[in-house]
Amino acid sequence: MKNIVILISGRGSNMQAIVDAGVPARLAAVISNRGDAEGLTWAGGRGIATDVVDHKAFPSREAFDDALAARIDAESPDLVILAGFMRVLTEKFVRHYDGRLLNIHPSLLPSFPGLHTHRQAIGAGVKVHGCTVHFVTPALDHGPIVIQSAVPVLTDDDEDSLAARVLAQEHKIYPKAVRWFLEGNLVIVQGSVRVKGGSQSQFVMCNPGVS
Ligand code: GRF
Repeated sequence: MKNIVILISGRGSNMQAIVDAGVPARLAAVISNRGDAEGLTWAGGRGIATDVVDHKAFPSREAFDDALAARIDAESPDLVILAGFMRVLTEKFVRHYDGRLLNIHPSLLPSFPGLHTHRQAIGAGVKVHGCTVHFVTPALDHGPIVIQSAVPVLTDDDEDSLAARVLAQEHKIYPKAVRWFLEGNLVIVQGSVRVKGGSQSQFVMCNPGVS
């Protein structure tokens, strides 16, 4: 059975969705850069090993990433899952996990990288927004796209209502992407991710009006 490690910084609802989906792997550890991350309590309560590598305890981003990588590698993971892990990672770290590091970003990349994506989407006046699971590459919020889900932006949306609609989709597509990876079904051809067999849809269109 493959080993996975999940990195979180806060609530951990994507981690919960992946755990609850019963993906075919051993969850070796949930690691956070913040000791007060709510998701650690949830994971600990389910008997999942948890640990904290506090970024504030290190003098530089490089030193933190080296320590984090050492902690992760102690679990010999086949896949490292960023699930609301709110740290910019160094190129060295990202390259070390090349092809086995997934992230979820709350926008339809390449639109709206970075923070406050729902605010960005409302500000831009887009009518469709969503979320993306992608392989991580050194450029922030870039990398080969595994699956996307699109949701409508409704006229009376604010940041919170739009975030909630997107988050519900995050919880659907992240477990699916993780399962594809673990079953060895993801291939990257010229920077584009394909699912072997080709019968699986790599996009979801949330119905207009559905929250
Ligand atoms: C999610 O919206 C994720 O896409 C973003 O941060 C949020 C984390 O939520 N990167 P959670 O910790 O998974 O509940």
